[in-house]
Amino acid sequence: MSTSSTTELAFSAHNVSKSFGGVQAVDSVSLQAAKGTITAVIGPNGAGKTSLFNVLTGFDQTDTGEVSLFGDRIEREPAWKIARKGMVRSFQTPVGFPLLSVWENLMAAGAKESESLFRGLFQRSRWLKLERETALRADTLIDELGLKSVKDQRLEDLTAGQTKLVDFARLLMVQPRMVLLDEPAAGVAPNGIGRLADQVTDLRARGITLLIIDHNIQFVFAVSDYVYVMAEGRVVVSGTPDEIAVHPMVAEIYLGSSK
Ligand SMILES: Nc1ncnc2c1ncn2[C@@H]1O[C@H](COP(=O)(O)OP(=O)(O)OP(=O)(O)O)[C@@H](O)[C@H]1O
Ligand SMILES: [Mg+2]
Repeated sequence: MSTSSTTELAFSAHNVSKSFGGVQAVDSVSLQAAKGTITAVIGPNGAGKTSLFNVLTGFDQTDTGEVSLFGDRIEREPAWKIARKGMVRSFQTPVGFPLLSVWENLMAAGAKESESLFRGLFQRSRWLKLERETALRADTLIDELGLKSVKDQRLEDLTAGQTKLVDFARLLMVQPRMVLLDEPAAGVAPNGIGRLADQVTDLRARGITLLIIDHNIQFVFAVSDYVYVMAEGRVVVSGTPDEIAVHPMVAEIYLGSSK
């Protein structure tokens, strides 16, 4: 990425590799993200994008390489510790509680252990205030993401696109410092894509750093500051969206052009 010496890095990975048996899913990948920017990772199916996210977030172990988050080395840290350091992620297939409503899913995601028994018993007014704040935050996100009409519906009854938006909202309930999104736009209706774009750019404006995988190139180019293109486990090209949009190798590798 194009960082000046004064740019503060939120995140960097150096020579990260991961293989599964004979498949080199991630092959010596290095990437960086400056604080408060949106970085995209694009590439064809099977390029290694999700595998890369899995090792960056501690859901899988790297074979080699170093990963730093806000100056701390994290490549040997478990996923829960990385999340506590402020880096949260979504999954290509959304997770959540299928039998709970949209609102309840957000409330569950926003619950903190410090809000539990002690506060409930001995600091009741403060606990109620925190609960009100969490509820307000849930309602605001539901509004902003256009989910008001399904607020009380169970997650299992939503469309794939609505489920994606709820998944994104769940991440925002914890007020993260860095957010990794694996195909947030997949299955989201065109009017939902606009809201999603507004949300991610709003997060950037608040200083949050984002790393986004997506196949929706219009969405990616509209929101990102810098783009890495992966193919067969490697980063093959990187640059600004304008540079990537006209790169012949990208047309050939990613878009399947014969040029
Ligand atoms: N747990 C696993 N065990 C074995 N092989 C795996 C595993 N996870 C991924 N792979 C393989 O690693 C390669 C990269 O897969 P990955 O899911 O990371 O690609 P991707 O870029 O996310 O693709 P898509 O755009 O389809 O989501 C593929 O060849 C895949 O089959
Ligand atoms: Mg994937």
